[in-house]
Amino acid sequence: MALHIIDHPLVQHKLSLMREKGTSTMKFRELLKEIAMLMGYEITRDFPLTYEEIETPLQKMNAPKISGKKVVIVPILRAGLGMVDGLTSLIPSARIGHIGMYRDEETCLPVFYYYKMPVNKDRLVIVTDPMLATGGSACDAISRLKEDGYKSIRLMCLVASPQGVKAVEEKHPDVDIYLASLDEGLNEKNYILPGLGDAGDRIFGTR
Ligand code: PRP
Ligand code: URA
Repeated sequence: MALHIIDHPLVQHKLSLMREKGTSTMKFRELLKEIAMLMGYEITRDFPLTYEEIETPLQKMNAPKISGKKVVIVPILRAGLGMVDGLTSLIPSARIGHIGMYRDEETCLPVFYYYKMPVNKDRLVIVTDPMLATGGSACDAISRLKEDGYKSIRLMCLVASPQGVKAVEEKHPDVDIYLASLDEGLNEKNYILPGLGDAGDRIFGTR
């Protein structure tokens, strides 16, 4: 397992704007999309290239093209949806699966409600969810994907707690995690500190 923290100044600046409590729903959504696109640049960094002969207006050349990395982006509903458009603007041919899960307010345990994936299990899966708090939702989502036959899985979050990272590392040591920030910890309600609040509510304007 590798933990990748994307410390690019543009990502860090945009994340600070998202954290501010006065940031509007419209702006929050726009920033999340932009960060997802910038993080997508890093998550695809190791995609292998193949060389193909092409003709420029001046001569032939062996030109690099991405070889065979078929991708499926899998948002954990709802908040993970906010990262999909940024990634598809970089990988337009990506398929999109969905995993529906919410955290029970009392127990903080994930409750599963929806699963729909494309049929080809050979694709690289990028699971998206802005918040990795206790890690329960991400761990269960990844387990479900593995039970279904997916073998190559990456997890892309915006903000994580050390507890959430540890939970994924222990349960799914084969899964690389990509973050914009590893925050300080969790409060008594298992919200990330300093965090950015409830990501789903801030994306969809539901509170
Ligand atoms: C949030 C978040 C994660 C989960 C993180 O979703 O988007 O899915 O909580 O918490 P965990 O790491 O402790 O499991 P939430 O349950 O609020 O649902 P929503 O996206 O529909 O708002
Ligand atoms: N879910 C969120 O949206 N935010 C947190 O801080 C924790 C879980």
